[in-house]
Amino acid sequence: QENFVQCLYNYPHDNTTTSISKVVYTQTNSSYSSILDFSIQNLRFYNVTSKPLVIVTPLEVSHVQATIICSQRHNMQIRIRSGGHDYEGLSYVSQVPFVVLDLINLREIKVDVENRTAWVQAGATIGELYFSISQKSNTLGFPAGVCPTVGTGGNIGGGGYGFMLRKYGLAADNVIDAEIVDVNGNLLDRKAMGEDLFWAIRGGGGASFGVIVAWKVKLVPVPSTVTVFRVPRTLEQNATEIIHKWQLVANKLDDNLMIRIHLARVTSSKNGKPTVEAQFESTYLGGVDQLIPLMQKRFPELGLVKEDCTETSWIGSVLFMGNFTISGPPEVLLNRTQLVGVLNYKAKSDYVRDPIPDVGLEVLWPLFYEDEAQAAFVQFSPYGGRMYEISESEIPFPHRSGNLFHIQYGVYWKGEGNEEAQKHINWIRRMYSYMEPYVSKSPRAAYFNYRDLDIGANNNNGYTSYDQASVWGLKYFLNNFKRLATVKTKVDPLNFFRNEQSIPSLISKG
Ligand code: FDA
Repeated sequence: QENFVQCLYNYPHDNTTTSISKVVYTQTNSSYSSILDFSIQNLRFYNVTSKPLVIVTPLEVSHVQATIICSQRHNMQIRIRSGGHDYEGLSYVSQVPFVVLDLINLREIKVDVENRTAWVQAGATIGELYFSISQKSNTLGFPAGVCPTVGTGGNIGGGGYGFMLRKYGLAADNVIDAEIVDVNGNLLDRKAMGEDLFWAIRGGGGASFGVIVAWKVKLVPVPSTVTVFRVPRTLEQNATEIIHKWQLVANKLDDNLMIRIHLARVTSSKNGKPTVEAQFESTYLGGVDQLIPLMQKRFPELGLVKEDCTETSWIGSVLFMGNFTISGPPEVLLNRTQLVGVLNYKAKSDYVRDPIPDVGLEVLWPLFYEDEAQAAFVQFSPYGGRMYEISESEIPFPHRSGNLFHIQYGVYWKGEGNEEAQKHINWIRRMYSYMEPYVSKSPRAAYFNYRDLDIGANNNNGYTSYDQASVWGLKYFLNNFKRLATVKTKVDPLNFFRNEQSIPSLISKG
């Protein structure tokens, strides 16, 4: 570790460079814990014993370059962190000696309204990006994730979707250039990195290939009036039948309309007993007067009325979906701390290609009544629209035409300790196994940004063969996995950039 730090200090830099010593934190530094903990977004990994030997929070690209070069010289693994939302903590936990490269200081955003583009540094959150766009225009937006604290580094690199998914696809579908520092310490833009690497980092996750410093994204047009609603229906209010109809129409509705379902347990206001509630959450890119007739024609079962809806701007819809006050100051999007605070959680994901029959849904409901499911949820996000127009191999994210919707299962808990954690983790695994008959098969597909080490992991230290990695890799990337491994072999043959689910190099163990 001392040699590593010395290497950082000795790394050649020109006179204009800020000294890296200002942003290097070893475990004895008084700011070490606060810097490490600040971006831990899952309490489950708060008190782990395997902490980084050093944290570097670069102020400029040369600090990233120094960290990459010195880590290789001194046998340190590197974990790259932008927003810290990795579901399995892979951006700040490792079982081998490691350094965290935390990009929190690299978060400049330049919005170019005229050309409808923005350069966003990877340490910026999507909330910061949305805020910056809204300060310049109320008719431009960007289709990334919903929770504003999520980092652009991870979210865009792994896909990234929110309420404009059906109209504009994923965040990664809207990247037009990027800057990455590769294993040799070179800073490369799209032209310099070439189309193979540029393909791989848009959905294949940056962490296998290098350190993404910035994305250039295409901003998308949004109308000045956007309508949002959140309509709850419990099982007593025919939720099962409404979900049944939703499965048949949600992926075929007007592209401007996305209706996601959030399922959770609530207490019935009628009899005080637990029941399951389906919240139909929606953003419509247009006014309420167009939305209501559309809903009456295609999805009358929901019984949506004008009073359920609120007209706002696009940034107002971002605030609404982030559970903020619509008319409140958009500056809340700059806060990097989650609204609900940091909790323990575990999540999993699935894709649905044929409607789940009512019997399938009815198998699910009792699981919500179990003790461990007090703060559990299941979300159904419809595909269709732009998602069906983009080919499966356009970028590494392959889940396109043929998928009706995507499922996220999540469970939160407050208590500490392994036993408590195991109860909730077992619950979500049970839920996942109940769902097996109703979801995609061979492989059972999953979304890379909803990282789940249950579906398979690389060897802890060193070599993992392509076949071994295929166990998890094919689930996330289907037929794109081989191409990702080919790109990896070209740009990082010796597998310096690695973690429990990094793309393997095809170079065999030598
Ligand atoms: P973090 O910093 O933990 O990085 C995640 C992964 O990307 C790690 O492997 C890391 O090494 C790598 N990485 C990060 N920055 C990098 C860089 N600059 N260069 C190379 N590699 C880098 N997803 C979604 O699509 N839509 C949504 O609405 C949401 N909502 C959501 C809410 C909450 C509360 C959580 C916890 C998560 C989500 N997600 C999501 C999932 C989210 O997109 C996913 O966890 C992202 O990878 C998080 O990116 P961060 O930069 O925050 O994470």
